[in-house]
Amino acid sequence: MGASDATQQGFAMFISSHSCTGLLSTKPLTYFNAHVKSNKRCSISMKVQLDSRADETFLQIYGVQFKIIYQKQERFKSQFWPCKCERNDGVTGFTSEDRRGADLKDSFSVKSQLLHQATAKKVVAIDEIMQVRHDNGGIIASDDKSASPGATKHASHKKKSSSIDDEAWNLLQESIVYYCGTPVGTIAAKDPTDGNILNYDQVFIRDFIPSGIAFLLKGEYDIVRNFVLHTLQLQSWEKTMDCHSPGQGLMPASFKVRTVPLDGDDTATEEVLDPDFGEAAIGRVAPVDSGLWWIILLRAYGKYSGDLSVQERIDVQTGIKMILKLCLSDGFDMFPTLLVTDGSCMIDRRMGIHGHPLEIQALFYSALLCAREMLTPEDGSADLLRALNNRLIALSFHIREYYWVDMKKLNEIYRYKTEEYSYDAVNKFNIYPDQIPPWLVEWMPDKGGYLIGNLQPAHMDFRFFSLGNLWSIVSSLATSHQSHSILDLIEAKWTDLVADMPFKICYPALDGQEWRIITGSDPKNTPWSYHNAGSWPTLLWQLTVACIKMNRPEIAARAMEVAEKRLSSDKWPEYYDSKSARFIGKQSRLHQTWSIAGFLVAKLLLENPDSAKNLWNEEDAEIVNALNFMTDSSTPRRKRGRKPLKKTYIV
Ligand code: GLC
Repeated sequence: MGASDATQQGFAMFISSHSCTGLLSTKPLTYFNAHVKSNKRCSISMKVQLDSRADETFLQIYGVQFKIIYQKQERFKSQFWPCKCERNDGVTGFTSEDRRGADLKDSFSVKSQLLHQATAKKVVAIDEIMQVRHDNGGIIASDDKSASPGATKHASHKKKSSSIDDEAWNLLQESIVYYCGTPVGTIAAKDPTDGNILNYDQVFIRDFIPSGIAFLLKGEYDIVRNFVLHTLQLQSWEKTMDCHSPGQGLMPASFKVRTVPLDGDDTATEEVLDPDFGEAAIGRVAPVDSGLWWIILLRAYGKYSGDLSVQERIDVQTGIKMILKLCLSDGFDMFPTLLVTDGSCMIDRRMGIHGHPLEIQALFYSALLCAREMLTPEDGSADLLRALNNRLIALSFHIREYYWVDMKKLNEIYRYKTEEYSYDAVNKFNIYPDQIPPWLVEWMPDKGGYLIGNLQPAHMDFRFFSLGNLWSIVSSLATSHQSHSILDLIEAKWTDLVADMPFKICYPALDGQEWRIITGSDPKNTPWSYHNAGSWPTLLWQLTVACIKMNRPEIAARAMEVAEKRLSSDKWPEYYDSKSARFIGKQSRLHQTWSIAGFLVAKLLLENPDSAKNLWNEEDAEIVNALNFMTDSSTPRRKRGRKPLKKTYIV
């Protein structure tokens, strides 16, 4: 809707002072003081932070889109991105909790309810999916639900599961966070029993991904669009920790909508978006995964809604490029994998995953593929695309080749020679065979394998990390054979990885001296708790996408059956503790939004497996060709070694 349409709707907009190029030339931001008036009793004054990289900008206010044209430059700095809402009739303290905001919330939630009712009719019981059996001897349903005595049980299961779905939907609606009356995200947890909220009252980027996908699957696109655009504005925030600023492309870990008194006017308040880039986070961890998830969600938004205009916007294109530049920039590293500090992803505390953790690599690979799909060709982006393509090939070769373990590979490592100084070393990273942990010798199944957690010089972290493995399947970072093998391993190790609640975040737990040294004696990450091999229901959705992609949905359906028994009665905990996930986590929040959303997404995808396609990356033919070329022994290969110098210089 253009400005003229908006006026017809009874709105008028005045730009009271105009743009500037930010305080420093490196900060490509512009700010506006805008005054929006409505003849329907609402008036908003706002300082709007805009992106000067776009030559035209659209501002959405209460669903009405205004085109902003700016002319004059001035210097202005704001700590937040505020939106002051005040009432025309002189009543102050008018925030998004105001009637109009409330009306919008109501209409949003009515729309959701209607959509939910409409799609609820399509429910396919998990039991039906359980009957789909995998050709290679997949999971067999525990009891035959098609037999007539089971029919009543079947019907009651359906009823029970739909009431759980309803509850989950209601809770997800309640978790929505509004900014100036517009839905922009979901709160991390809304635990009615816990007063110590820490930062669980914020919108976390990574936590919103399953919420966003749940909304997309329901046809509720606006909240995702708003989330994507608002977090984009935060990307360029001035962020510093003790005088040091991280890279421009960094996305925040989380943000909060705060209502604060308006400067110089104590009768009015304004809403501000207040991001945390890790400067306030426990341990000051950098959220490397945020930008990668943002790209993945942006692509999913385009695929589900069919609205490609968001990804085509100049400011969005610039946002994508800023993330890519940050990830692709040169450093000291010898490997194509992304080098990060500990706690830079879902595991956001010290857990010995610094270096090149699998989760980040899988998200990185996926984000590169998604970005390549969305980048609009233009002059000057050729170098970036070249770097991106080279990285994709190098990264997939590196992970497939060096992170993979199964019985065969383990036996090779067991017989490795060490201290090989040469360009053609077999044991390139100088792994000492004694590193193979005793648990793995027993644990590795005959059929199946997985990608290890991390690889560094003389170090393989043999722990199984679930999200990294599942997202390697989803993104096609793992080969098709490897993907099936990972699912084979999950089936073979069901009692370790699923047990009483899906899904273990990693396996096994660190304990004893290892726990003391690696976690720094972290009391939250004690063995079989939280990040240290606790069980996280949110992982259900990634498991489901991976299983559907490999045409083995029955594995996810079986996990959902386990989850469904407890999740609602346990009040949707954040995580579970103990080896077989029997306890609700020691410090687990209840009504944790991504547990709710993860469950809903898994449910919706199993009901309509075709809709999962929008979430995965197909294997890329060019990458496969390049990899075949690299690994084909009949291809004459350049003898590795130093390139001969063209000229000899006598110094
Ligand atoms: C914990 C989790 C992190 C999550 C956050 C909010 O810190 O480790 O992954 O984003 O809680 O739920």
